Amino acid sequence: MEKRTLHSPDLTARNIERIADLFPQVITESRNAEGNVTLAVDFDLLRQELSDHVVEGPQERYRLDWPGKRAAAFAANAPIAKTLRPVREESVDFNTTKNLFIEGDNLEALKLLQESYLGKVKAIYIDPPYNTGNDFLYEDDFAQSSADYLARSGQKSETGDRLVANTEANGRFHSDWLSMIYCRLKLARSLLADDGVLIAAIGDGEHANLRLLLDQLFGAENFISDVVWQGGRKNDSRYVSSGADYMLIYAKNEMQLGDLGVRWREPKVGLDTALAKAAAIWSTPRNDDDASARWKSWLKSRKAAGEITDSVARYDQLQPGTGRPINTYGNITWPGRGGPTYEILHPITRKPVSLPKTGWRFQKDEMDRRIAAGQIWFGPDETAIPRGISFLDETSDQVAISVFEQDRKAASTDMRNLMGEIVFENPKDRRVLARWLRLVTGGAKDALVLDFFAGSGSTGHAVMDLNAADGGHRRYILVQLDEAVAHTDYNSIASIARERLRRAGAQAKKAAGLLGASLDVGFRSLHVDSGNKADVLRVADDTEQLGLDALELSIKPGRSGEDLLFQVLLDWGLELSLPIVRESVDGREVFSVDDGALIACFAESVTPEVVRVIAERSPLRAVFRDDAFESDAARINAEQLFREVSPPTEVRTI
Ligand SMILES: C[S@@+](CC[C@H](N)C(=O)[O-])C[C@H]1O[C@@H](n2cnc3c(N)ncnc32)[C@H](O)[C@@H]1O
Repeated sequence: MEKRTLHSPDLTARNIERIADLFPQVITESRNAEGNVTLAVDFDLLRQELSDHVVEGPQERYRLDWPGKRAAAFAANAPIAKTLRPVREESVDFNTTKNLFIEGDNLEALKLLQESYLGKVKAIYIDPPYNTGNDFLYEDDFAQSSADYLARSGQKSETGDRLVANTEANGRFHSDWLSMIYCRLKLARSLLADDGVLIAAIGDGEHANLRLLLDQLFGAENFISDVVWQGGRKNDSRYVSSGADYMLIYAKNEMQLGDLGVRWREPKVGLDTALAKAAAIWSTPRNDDDASARWKSWLKSRKAAGEITDSVARYDQLQPGTGRPINTYGNITWPGRGGPTYEILHPITRKPVSLPKTGWRFQKDEMDRRIAAGQIWFGPDETAIPRGISFLDETSDQVAISVFEQDRKAASTDMRNLMGEIVFENPKDRRVLARWLRLVTGGAKDALVLDFFAGSGSTGHAVMDLNAADGGHRRYILVQLDEAVAHTDYNSIASIARERLRRAGAQAKKAAGLLGASLDVGFRSLHVDSGNKADVLRVADDTEQLGLDALELSIKPGRSGEDLLFQVLLDWGLELSLPIVRESVDGREVFSVDDGALIACFAESVTPEVVRVIAERSPLRAVFRDDAFESDAARINAEQLFREVSPPTEVRTI
């Protein structure tokens, strides 16, 4: 049976594997700090492969650099001896929900999620600290070597107390923020699906830096938009009221989106109301001119009230004869020179209409077809050049523009209504999040959405709203530090977010009535914590002092079977939201994950009966505690039994 070490993947090793795929000849062996032989890259050979494309030394080059960047890149790659421990009491619908709420540092959480969620996330939304001078930044542990990193990271489980104020007086004000965000974004990118998209909210302070950093991490060719959210106005501003912040949008791979024919569109705001109003105007006694005048004035008033946008207001005429709202501004002339020229007769005067200088946009056949279909507008006589008509009821979708106005205070009012008070300052507006998440996921109803600066959980709430609105099955993963708050009911921002999600979920379920039965309003609560194994990857000296007996008792006291199960899920790269059934076999707790994808028994001793029952169910994977077998012979017998009863099962111990 294979025995697992249970720590997060070593991303440097993964990078070496990638280089080996491209240039196997540059891979060599070397000894690491612990004296073990490992694979390494021979840079001299790699340099030769890239010959005139290598930039070295002080030569000028285009890049964003800051002190600490290399350490941050190292921190992103170094493995950690940590795990995610489930907390049933904090969760809602633990057994069935597909949503995850992770409490802890997001750098660690992102590392732990690498195997299970590699390339699976459709959209990432983050709203990190903007570095305004009043923000706290998490103090990352930029240790020197991987082994050091592992040993140190395994010891700490407290997180909230590692937040330090980052004031502008700090000589490394921007560098510290960049290091913090760099390693996290680097890890986050690999979780994105090939057609995945990142939205990063940011304020004026780090907007320029973040854009350059994302150009570097995602590739400037994957930049999609820099959306400006005008959220308010301060009339007492000395120069300009800068109530804006930004959303930088990057695709993981824009070319892939293009190849898939992806087009981001959203329903026009107020479309249904407008169509109903047009029909009402048309059905009351009228002459056509009067109807169009009433329609125009209705559009004007609704646009002023913010109930419709230009995308509807542009359809400012009712088509004579049908009453359909139309716009008659389509250009049907040839772009450039040398388009087709032919005669078109005006429908009333029967004289040829003016011919545009560049010719018509369509060949005669197509023009005749459009005229017959009522898609061409003619002026009162032949002197006006005809134009194209489009119909409001045929263009229900619109493309988003990169500026929008929405009062930022509305989200705080929302929060007060739900929680009874404002327990979190400046939450993001969940309507804005829902709108943009829906857009960038191309309306995919099963999208997995990640927010690793979750704050009060607005992203989770927005995902629930989207599902409630269209019956979708989108899922979320939120990560939030246990940042302390001074409140009698909540001890951390994470606990505020969980309570908000509970209340929002109950509210959404109630509002959905009978349809609410299939709405997933739950979440599995998980905490980043030190690994379950007491002595994972100890440095050599420590091992000698402890003695081998102590090492054998390798699971930390107080760790439950479910704790071990989640570490195994991470280790095996299985999703943490898979359905889990707990049962008892021969008096031992047995977990069956996803109907036999994995069966686990972490009892301190297993009997041949337990092994037999599990083997007979032919799971894809089976796992036991390494010390659960009475003797080596018992372990070998178990292996033998699996080989006979269920040869495909992959059996492991921890
Ligand atoms: C600007 S707030 C996000 C607000 C959120 N969008 C909302 O609507 O409630 C940023 C959040 O990131 C959290 N945070 C900062 N550093 C973190 C880290 N290293 N790991 C996890 N969360 C972190 C902070 O505690 C804070 O709640």
